[in-house]
Amino acid sequence: MKERTGSEVAKRAAGEHAATQVEEGMCVGLGTGSTAAHAIRALGHRAANGLTVQGIPTSLGARAIAREAGLSLTDLDEGLPDLVIDGADQVEQAGTALIKGGGAAHTREKVVATAADRVVIVIDETKLVDRLNRSIPLEVLPAAQPVVAREIRSIGGEPSLRAARAKDGPVVTDNGNLVVDCAFGPIDDPETLAGMLAAMPGVVEHGLFCDVGDELIVGTETGVSVESFPLESHEGR
Ligand code: 5RP
Repeated sequence: MKERTGSEVAKRAAGEHAATQVEEGMCVGLGTGSTAAHAIRALGHRAANGLTVQGIPTSLGARAIAREAGLSLTDLDEGLPDLVIDGADQVEQAGTALIKGGGAAHTREKVVATAADRVVIVIDETKLVDRLNRSIPLEVLPAAQPVVAREIRSIGGEPSLRAARAKDGPVVTDNGNLVVDCAFGPIDDPETLAGMLAAMPGVVEHGLFCDVGDELIVGTETGVSVESFPLESHEGR
C-alpha cells in the first residue's frame, strides 16, 4: 500500500533533473507515480519547445499524464526505449535492489525497464534505506490468490490483499489482476527472495527490482544527487 512520503519539492527536483537527460529523437519509458509524473510534465514542456520525443507509458495513469502534457505516445511494438524514467518505493542504500509497485504498475514497469537501454530511477531522499523492509507487491492472477497467499506464508511472509480506496473490494491492476502486498520484515537477500517470488505459479510479477536500474537521482529540498548503480553506502546521507 502506498504511503505518501517525501516532499513534492524533492520529487519534482528528481523528476525534472531526469527529464534533462532526454535527447532529441529518443523513445522514453514513462514511469508511474508522483515522482515520475514530474519528469513526464517536464518532458512535455521540452516537447512543446521543440524536442522530438516519443513516450511509452507504464500504466494508464502515466498515459493520462503524458497525454495531458502533450507527449507523443508509442508502444513496445514500435521500438524499444532508449531510456526509462521511473520512481521507486524503497531503494537499498548500498547495492542494486529496490521495491516498486506502490501504484500497482510494477509488471509493465519491469517490462519497459527490461526493454530499455538505460533506466533512471527518481526518488526523494525518504526512500533510501539500509535494508529494504516494505511489503513487496505481487501482481497475482485472481484465481490464484489463495494459493499464492499460502505459498507466501510458507516462506515466512504475511500476504495482504490490497483493498481499493474509492471502490468496494480489491485493487484491480491495469492488466485485470489483483495485488497482494507481502510483508517479510527486513530483507537480507533480495535476489534470493526475488527468485522465490518469480517461481510461484499465479504470480504475474513481483515488485522487487534487482539489478534493473542504471542511475539513481535523489531529490532533496535543495537539489539532487546523482549516482550509478550499484550504489555505495554513504554514512549519514
Ligand atoms: C508504481 C511505482 C511507483 O514508481 C512508486 O510507487 C513510487 O511512486 P511515487 O513517486 O508516487 O512515490 O512503483 O507502481
